[in-house]
Amino acid sequence: LPQLQPLTTVAAFSAALDAQRAAGRTVGLVPTMGALHAGHASLVRRAAAECDVVAVTIFVNPLQFGPGEDFERYPRSLAADVALAAEAGAGIVFAPGVEDMYPGAVVTTVHVDGLTEVLEGASRPGHFDGVATVVAKLFAMAGRCRAYFGLKDYQQLAVIRRMASDLSFPVDVIGCETVREPDGLALSSRNAYLSPADRRAAPALHAALGHGAEVIDGGETVPALVAAAMAAVVAAEPAITLDYAVAVEAATLVAPPAFRPGDDVRLLVAARLGATRLIDNLGVTVPGPIPTSPIPTSPSRKADAACAGA
Ligand code: PAF
Repeated sequence: LPQLQPLTTVAAFSAALDAQRAAGRTVGLVPTMGALHAGHASLVRRAAAECDVVAVTIFVNPLQFGPGEDFERYPRSLAADVALAAEAGAGIVFAPGVEDMYPGAVVTTVHVDGLTEVLEGASRPGHFDGVATVVAKLFAMAGRCRAYFGLKDYQQLAVIRRMASDLSFPVDVIGCETVREPDGLALSSRNAYLSPADRRAAPALHAALGHGAEVIDGGETVPALVAAAMAAVVAAEPAITLDYAVAVEAATLVAPPAFRPGDDVRLLVAARLGATRLIDNLGVTVPGPIPTSPIPTSPSRKADAACAGA
């Protein structure tokens, strides 16, 4: 493969994507913070399958890290990242410095109300403002495209979808399935921080989600009881301190009093292993006969329902 030269300036990045579209090519965008792994590679491969040219962005965004979080020690591996991106099918890599992305004081930020107050937002104040702001900037620089994000960061995907829609970016936001290790651990750049003992304990998070799905399949409809069942699985693993385990409506991230047959539920967990915080999630549809509505559902309503959620 020819060596890919990362672009570093906003002007060069925007011009490169404008030139692709001017030549009639569709653009796929894969925003990342680098430390690329097989999960990122799957995003790039999907983008390459669906778009004529794929641009991967690599930027460890200081705005989305809180004080005392891992911004300084976040793994940085640009040369390996560029090689992995190219291998997976990227034709363009944009790797700006902080001074390229934020040349002056940051006085304008993007806040998505509601979705960002709960779960990760509650544990990491300001995190989603940082994410929404940098992704809005990347969308503005990139222009019309399809943008690919992992379902592993489920709440992030919901926030980005809402932001892109509310701010009318000409961007189709696509969610892609989580890639897992053979023992179930979701791939994450932060897995690199885990001690061998914590790495052995970490699959309990996925096991807890699987148990939550079984409990729902078994007929449990009360979100708090599903959550308690997941928490019990994590509690059996002393190396893990649970931050939250919840069962919520997939589209709103809110727990209703009880789930109903046909509901799309998202199970989400966050936990600490030593100094490392990991998150994971799983989708499950509540089983049982879906109550028939007295008014027939029109085809367009059905289509709307099929597009709801992240
Ligand atoms: O998921 C990530 O890697 C980051 O949050 C993103 C979307 C690239 C924004 O910095």
